[in-house]
Amino acid sequence: MKFAETREALLDMLKDVPRQMREFVPTMGALHEGHLSLVRAAKLEAGRVVVSIFVNPTQFNDLADLVKYPRTPEADTAMLERAGADVVYMPGVEDIYPEPDTRRFDFGPLERVMEGAHRPGHFNGVAQVVSRLFDIVKPDKAYFGEKDFQQLAIVRELVRRLALPVEIVGCPIVREADGLAMSSRNVRLTPAQRAAAPEIYQALRSVERQQGELQIQPAIDRAMRQIDADPELKTEYVIVADAATLQPVQAWDEPGEKRIFAAVHAGEVRLIDNVTI
Ligand code: PAJ
Repeated sequence: MKFAETREALLDMLKDVPRQMREFVPTMGALHEGHLSLVRAAKLEAGRVVVSIFVNPTQFNDLADLVKYPRTPEADTAMLERAGADVVYMPGVEDIYPEPDTRRFDFGPLERVMEGAHRPGHFNGVAQVVSRLFDIVKPDKAYFGEKDFQQLAIVRELVRRLALPVEIVGCPIVREADGLAMSSRNVRLTPAQRAAAPEIYQALRSVERQQGELQIQPAIDRAMRQIDADPELKTEYVIVADAATLQPVQAWDEPGEKRIFAAVHAGEVRLIDNVTI
């Protein structure tokens, strides 16, 4: 496994690797099995697997979250080595943003709901860094987790709008044995918060079981009460949305594939999750 800390070093390592042979997994580090599942999906292809680790400042709408974001480079390296990554790109901020990125993306209704509505500027920062990384790595395929389902939709839209020659591959959510979606932020949970957190997944599953009713809102209200019954948890939203447009749906019999989404605060840590129906 090779390391590149600058764009020049990366380009040199990839100079003999044609675009069709470049598999790319962008991350912010503090890796866990969820990230490794993307690396394994990328390894199913014949090409080289490039993993980037870059805690992108422009996507943090909350400075405290950026400062406290976990950073575990040694453990990350060992995990990537075991998972069989070929190249790890760990750029500095100057490498990605030689000048401040002043681009403003507008993804329309896709970004006016859920994470886009609750974290102003977040997806603009994601679009900035992902487009920069794609420009540097020039991958054939890039792998993103359904854990951040809205991010996956935004990235697909970014690729479509900029007509980038990159195929976006979505990968299923990897969970702990008790159902909690794996997340780099989970290490920041206190033992009591960690014990409470699987309730989020349980509540989303319980919404799914209430499809016998016509209206969705009562099931959402019950799920929010179920989560908030635990003093360690505070719901920000529970939404049933169309899986393609991400717009909220009111009735179970509306056409189209649906997905159930939640954002929940456990103390200072904000957790998100979603399930298919
Ligand atoms: P990060 O949170 O490190 O996640 C990197 C990738 O891993 C994302 O595509 C995310 O959806 C996926 N992932 C995280 N937890 C997962 C899980 N439990 N199961 C499956 N996939 C999971 O998402 C980002 O970084 C950043 O926004 C980034 C795209 C790198 C841009 O900065």
